[in-house]
Amino acid sequence: MDRIHILATGTSRGIGAAIAARLDRPDVRFVGHSSRPGDDARIPADLDEPGAAAALWNEVLERLDGRIDVLVNNAGIFEAAPIDLPDADWLAAWERTMRINLTASAELCRLAVRHFATRPGGGRIVNVASRAAYRGDSPAHWHYAASKAGMVAMTKSIARGHAKDGVLAFAVCPGFTMTGMAEDYLESRGGDKLLADIPLGRVAMPDEVAETVRWLALDAPASATGAVIDINGASYVR
Ligand SMILES: NC(=O)c1ccc[n+]([C@@H]2O[C@H](COP(=O)([O-])OP(=O)(O)OC[C@H]3O[C@@H](n4cnc5c(N)ncnc54)[C@H](OP(=O)(O)O)[C@@H]3O)[C@@H](O)[C@H]2O)c1
Repeated sequence: MDRIHILATGTSRGIGAAIAARLDRPDVRFVGHSSRPGDDARIPADLDEPGAAAALWNEVLERLDGRIDVLVNNAGIFEAAPIDLPDADWLAAWERTMRINLTASAELCRLAVRHFATRPGGGRIVNVASRAAYRGDSPAHWHYAASKAGMVAMTKSIARGHAKDGVLAFAVCPGFTMTGMAEDYLESRGGDKLLADIPLGRVAMPDEVAETVRWLALDAPASATGAVIDINGASYVR
């Protein structure tokens, strides 16, 4: 059987690196990505730049001999924009987060849907959103929550609109996920108060998110299309 061709964004570190490790298997041809040039395993593209998403897609398509079966949109930023910033700075922060987290993902989804629809086997999209899509985020992260809510709504629209073409679309909503050094990570997100709010008593590990992405990318039944899976230790149950 042909190997499954997968493009995942933001695989240089954190959750994306765990996804790359999970998908490093003989039945998959995997191409990763990061914002800047690194090693050969990742194609660089700064998704804040106009045209970068399309250039990335085309380069990956070429590297994978003209076929991509699964797109994983994982790249994202979590940058603060306090509401007392000067107007222009607040707006610039809003637009940067939207461009990287939502618009670039949308451009890649559109290219994927059009590509998948030309093939009998269709294809899969897995979008890494966030608990913030449902729960909201801090006063300095309206843009982040809005970008992730947009991603969830986009995923559902793709699932509903393109199932007939064999396109399956899923979203994953992680809560706090330990992507840096444990102490620094917890401190930056609120320390013990954060843990008190998670019934499981700990934040998620990148590999827990990665395993969910792997399952959605390779094994989830077609009827699950449109599903959004929470990975947050029951800190937000909906
Ligand atoms: N960690 C959490 O607590 C958490 C919770 C909920 C959802 N999420 C979501 O999970 C995803 C991964 O998060 P993470 O915590 O693993 O992030 P991370 O460790 O900060 O890594 C972010 C990834 O995105 C890439 N990226 C950043 N800016 C980019 C740009 N301008 N253009 C292209 N790529 C860019 C980075 O590439 P470089 O290395 O080149 O910068 C890196 O590969 C994100 O979508 C995030 O919103 C994370």
